[in-house]
Amino acid sequence: MKKVYLTTPLYYVNDKPHIGHGYTTILADVLSRYHKLSGKTVFFLTGTDEHGQKVQEAALRLETTPKDHVDKFHKNYIELWKKLNINYDKFIRTTDSNHVVKVKKVLQNLWENDEIYLAEYEGLYSVSEERFITEKEFEEGDYREVKKLKEKNYFFKMSKYQDQLINHINDNPDFILPESRKNEILGFLKKPLDDLCISRPKSRLEWGIEIPFDKDYVTYVWFDALLNYITGIKWDSDEEFFNDWWPANYHLMGKDIITTHAVYWMTMLMANNLPLPKHIIAHGWWLIDKAKMSKSIGNVVNPIKLIDHYGEDSLRYFLMREMTLGQDASFSFELFKRRYNDDLANDLGNLLNRITILIRKFCNNHVPHTSKKDEIDLELIKKMEVLPIDLFKNIDDLKINLAIENTMSLVRSINKYLEIKEPWKILKTNIIDQSSLNALSISCEAIALSAKLLFPVMPNKCNEIFKILNIETRSQDNFSFGQTFGNHIQRHAALFPRIDSND
Ligand code: MSP
Repeated sequence: MKKVYLTTPLYYVNDKPHIGHGYTTILADVLSRYHKLSGKTVFFLTGTDEHGQKVQEAALRLETTPKDHVDKFHKNYIELWKKLNINYDKFIRTTDSNHVVKVKKVLQNLWENDEIYLAEYEGLYSVSEERFITEKEFEEGDYREVKKLKEKNYFFKMSKYQDQLINHINDNPDFILPESRKNEILGFLKKPLDDLCISRPKSRLEWGIEIPFDKDYVTYVWFDALLNYITGIKWDSDEEFFNDWWPANYHLMGKDIITTHAVYWMTMLMANNLPLPKHIIAHGWWLIDKAKMSKSIGNVVNPIKLIDHYGEDSLRYFLMREMTLGQDASFSFELFKRRYNDDLANDLGNLLNRITILIRKFCNNHVPHTSKKDEIDLELIKKMEVLPIDLFKNIDDLKINLAIENTMSLVRSINKYLEIKEPWKILKTNIIDQSSLNALSISCEAIALSAKLLFPVMPNKCNEIFKILNIETRSQDNFSFGQTFGNHIQRHAALFPRIDSND
């Protein structure tokens, strides 16, 4: 069976999770569920990044220890993922003892293999970024708290892998996606690559993984955190398990951290003689009025409020439907409400109501069988046949919004089909003709298929549809025609009540 290993970044434990963090994790969850639906096995890793200066400072401010601080705050993420119905296989914390032990092991190996050296370095250090920056970066970027620092540190020989990395990127056109990010990285690699400073003296920072061959230093937080992608799947402790999953199929992240992944992490893997992941995927920003969401601007959208008001599935739907992977997208309550009312309340919710009410009235609550299908019936059935093929192609191409649109287009076609077939005219004539029975049967079958294919995006709501239409678990991944015939339909309330303007 085909295996898919996908990861999210490890979120900084200090931050309060917002819809930007939510997006990456929902994306991973939705992809994971689509792959499962297409018969693959999946391992989905997420977690929290818990070392570094900012955590040490936050703990100091809150008059607590860094350990107590991260033990408390990482729970914000666990709680949010629960509320968003995220079905990860493992939540890794960089303070987990196994991770700490294995990071030390990697460092020791690299040290023994002469991949790490000690050197004195004088340069500009950005406290906010927690790293040395170049003169050029300083001139061009917006770095706060920059100071000149002269310090002895350990360096990883990143520069020696520059050509190998460039070749790998050129030989594997879909390694870094989208194309614009690949070009950004190739542009970055045109300049000579520096070696990577991977230690911090304990005199300056204590909260980190101690360098195994020098107790006066801790590990640079990125070097530690990136290794989660292999420590999280039992590298160096269960070879069979590790080889089952590595190399990762998808490393998902926002565009802000593409360089650390495509350059630091890839050269770290090369130095460890490990194969590189298949795809590194950088998505765009969620913007609020054209500005990036950030604590300092104060425009952060709290997902918890939206979930509590409108349910997690409508937020999952909105975020997945609205963003084209790789591009930025805007969030506003107006846009959210419009999508919800148009797609979910009107197109999907009303359609379900319409179909179940008619079946209840005219077919004694049972989905009728079809017979003597006409052209219009066959046209809709044809659309149902091609839908899974088109949709899974879009999933493989990471066009999640288009995969959703494939299904929503079927939903709109069902509505149109019913308008043409007018099965409700039975009401007036009192003659139950086969054409109307076909209309009820085929539209019920089509909405069931829509729910099966929207399940990865809205698991709870689609489960409700499965219950209403009495679709058994074993038929939930069966896309062939005729799965609902004879099913007993359950009464139900509106699945997506409209949001009124003053809600
Ligand atoms: N801890 C590092 C990652 C280490 S990975 C080994 C980090 N953490 S973070 O908490 O800042 O989260 C970064 C991720 O959150 C981004 O890469 C992105 O996936 C997501 N987002 C944060 N803000 C975002 C938006 N405004 N819009 C979309 N996603 C954003 O960097």
